[in-house]
Amino acid sequence: MKDDDGDRRLLEMARNAMERAYSPYSGVKVGAVVLGADGQVYAGCNVENATLGLSVCAERVALFHARAHGTMEIQAIVFTSNHPKVTSPCGACRQVMLELAPNARVLYGDETGVKKEWASPLDLLPDAFDGDWKAP
Ligand code: THU
Repeated sequence: MKDDDGDRRLLEMARNAMERAYSPYSGVKVGAVVLGADGQVYAGCNVENATLGLSVCAERVALFHARAHGTMEIQAIVFTSNHPKVTSPCGACRQVMLELAPNARVLYGDETGVKKEWASPLDLLPDAFDGDWKAP
Protein backbone atom coordinates (compact mmCIF):
# COMPACT_ATOMS: atom_id res chain seq x y z
CA MET A 1 0.00 0.00 0.00
CA LYS A 2 1.21 3.49 -0.79
CA ASP A 3 2.03 5.67 2.19
CA ASP A 4 3.59 8.97 1.13
CA ASP A 5 4.04 10.29 4.68
CA GLY A 6 5.58 7.01 5.78
CA ASP A 7 7.88 7.03 2.74
CA ARG A 8 8.97 10.58 3.53
CA ARG A 9 9.77 9.60 7.11
CA LEU A 10 11.82 6.66 5.90
CA LEU A 11 13.66 8.94 3.47
CA GLU A 12 14.43 11.30 6.35
CA MET A 13 15.93 8.39 8.30
CA ALA A 14 17.96 7.37 5.25
CA ARG A 15 19.25 10.96 4.95
CA ASN A 16 20.39 10.77 8.59
CA ALA A 17 22.10 7.42 8.01
CA MET A 18 23.84 8.91 4.95
CA GLU A 19 25.65 11.35 7.24
CA ARG A 20 27.30 8.36 8.94
CA ALA A 21 28.81 7.06 5.66
CA TYR A 22 32.49 6.18 5.76
CA SER A 23 33.58 7.04 2.22
CA PRO A 24 36.96 8.79 2.25
CA TYR A 25 37.87 7.22 -1.14
CA SER A 26 34.87 8.05 -3.32
CA GLY A 27 33.44 10.95 -1.36
CA VAL A 28 30.00 9.54 -2.18
CA LYS A 29 27.72 9.21 0.83
CA VAL A 30 24.76 6.83 0.62
CA GLY A 31 22.16 6.12 3.27
CA ALA A 32 19.50 3.41 3.30
CA VAL A 33 16.75 2.13 5.54
CA VAL A 34 14.73 -1.03 5.35
CA LEU A 35 11.24 -1.31 6.80
CA GLY A 36 10.25 -4.72 8.10
CA ALA A 37 6.74 -6.17 7.91
CA ASP A 38 6.98 -6.05 11.73
CA GLY A 39 7.38 -2.25 11.58
CA GLN A 40 11.02 -2.26 12.59
CA VAL A 41 13.35 0.09 10.69
CA TYR A 42 17.03 -0.60 10.15
CA ALA A 43 19.55 1.86 8.77
CA GLY A 44 22.72 1.45 6.76
CA CYS A 45 25.39 3.62 5.18
CA ASN A 46 28.19 2.79 2.76
CA VAL A 47 31.38 1.73 4.47
CA GLU A 48 34.52 1.84 2.33
CA ASN A 49 37.93 0.29 2.85
CA ALA A 50 41.44 1.12 1.65
CA THR A 51 41.36 -2.08 -0.43
CA LEU A 52 38.31 -0.60 -2.24
CA GLY A 53 36.99 -4.09 -3.06
CA LEU A 54 35.91 -4.60 0.54
CA SER A 55 33.64 -1.57 0.48
CA VAL A 56 29.98 -2.32 1.19
CA CYS A 57 26.98 -0.33 -0.03
CA ALA A 58 24.42 1.26 2.26
CA GLU A 59 21.60 -0.96 1.00
CA ARG A 60 23.39 -4.18 1.88
CA VAL A 61 24.44 -2.87 5.28
CA ALA A 62 20.78 -2.07 6.06
CA LEU A 63 19.52 -5.44 4.77
CA PHE A 64 22.13 -7.40 6.74
CA HIS A 65 21.35 -5.30 9.79
CA ALA A 66 17.65 -6.25 9.54
CA ARG A 67 18.39 -9.92 9.06
CA ALA A 68 20.83 -10.01 11.97
CA HIS A 69 18.21 -8.47 14.25
CA GLY A 70 15.57 -11.02 13.31
CA THR A 71 13.42 -9.10 10.81
CA MET A 72 12.80 -11.63 8.06
CA GLU A 73 10.13 -9.98 5.87
CA ILE A 74 11.00 -6.59 4.36
CA GLN A 75 8.31 -4.32 2.93
CA ALA A 76 10.36 -1.34 1.76
CA ILE A 77 13.93 -0.25 1.06
CA VAL A 78 14.61 3.49 0.80
CA PHE A 79 17.98 4.91 -0.19
CA THR A 80 19.48 8.30 -0.86
CA SER A 81 22.85 9.82 -1.70
CA ASN A 82 24.78 13.06 -1.74
CA HIS A 83 25.59 12.62 -5.45
CA PRO A 84 23.06 13.50 -8.18
CA LYS A 85 24.19 10.53 -10.31
CA VAL A 86 23.91 7.91 -7.57
CA THR A 87 20.20 7.18 -7.95
CA SER A 88 20.08 3.44 -8.71
CA PRO A 89 21.27 0.48 -6.63
CA CYS A 90 24.34 -1.44 -7.85
CA GLY A 91 24.05 -4.93 -9.27
CA ALA A 92 25.36 -6.63 -6.14
CA CYS A 93 22.72 -4.90 -4.01
CA ARG A 94 19.97 -5.86 -6.48
CA GLN A 95 20.96 -9.51 -6.16
CA VAL A 96 20.94 -9.33 -2.36
CA MET A 97 17.60 -7.46 -2.34
CA LEU A 98 16.08 -10.20 -4.47
CA GLU A 99 17.17 -12.83 -1.98
CA LEU A 100 16.47 -11.07 1.34
CA ALA A 101 13.63 -8.73 0.39
CA PRO A 102 11.85 -10.19 -2.68
CA ASN A 103 8.56 -8.44 -1.87
CA ALA A 104 9.94 -5.04 -0.96
CA ARG A 105 9.17 -1.78 -2.72
CA VAL A 106 12.46 0.00 -3.51
CA LEU A 107 12.58 3.80 -3.40
CA TYR A 108 15.19 6.40 -4.18
CA GLY A 109 14.93 9.94 -2.87
CA ASP A 110 17.00 13.09 -2.58
CA GLU A 111 16.82 16.09 -0.25
CA THR A 112 13.55 17.19 -1.89
CA GLY A 113 11.63 13.92 -1.67
CA VAL A 114 11.05 10.50 -3.24
CA LYS A 115 12.10 10.49 -6.91
CA LYS A 116 11.99 6.87 -8.09
CA GLU A 117 10.10 3.77 -7.09
CA TRP A 118 10.35 0.14 -8.19
CA ALA A 119 7.59 -2.30 -7.24
CA SER A 120 10.06 -5.03 -6.32
CA PRO A 121 13.73 -6.05 -6.68
CA LEU A 122 12.78 -8.17 -9.71
CA ASP A 123 11.98 -4.94 -11.56
CA LEU A 124 15.61 -3.94 -10.97
CA LEU A 125 16.97 -7.34 -11.98
CA PRO A 126 14.86 -8.96 -14.71
CA ASP A 127 15.56 -12.62 -15.55
CA ALA A 128 17.58 -12.83 -12.33
CA PHE A 129 19.76 -15.68 -11.24
CA ASP A 130 18.17 -17.06 -8.07
CA GLY A 131 18.07 -20.09 -5.80
CA ASP A 132 16.01 -22.23 -8.18
CA TRP A 133 19.10 -24.23 -9.16
CA LYS A 134 19.09 -26.00 -5.76
CA ALA A 135 18.64 -29.77 -5.80
CA PRO A 136 15.15 -30.87 -4.67
N1 THU B 1 27.09 2.96 -3.16
C1 THU B 1 26.10 2.61 -2.29
O1 THU B 1 26.31 2.57 -1.08
N2 THU B 1 24.89 2.32 -2.80
C2 THU B 1 24.55 2.42 -4.11
O2 THU B 1 23.39 2.19 -4.46
C3 THU B 1 25.56 2.79 -5.12
C4 THU B 1 26.93 3.00 -4.60
C5 THU B 1 28.41 3.34 -2.62
C6 THU B 1 29.53 2.39 -2.88
C7 THU B 1 30.74 3.31 -2.77
O3 THU B 1 31.09 3.46 -1.40
C8 THU B 1 30.22 4.65 -3.27
O4 THU B 1 28.79 4.57 -3.18
C9 THU B 1 30.63 4.98 -4.69
O5 THU B 1 30.31 3.95 -5.57
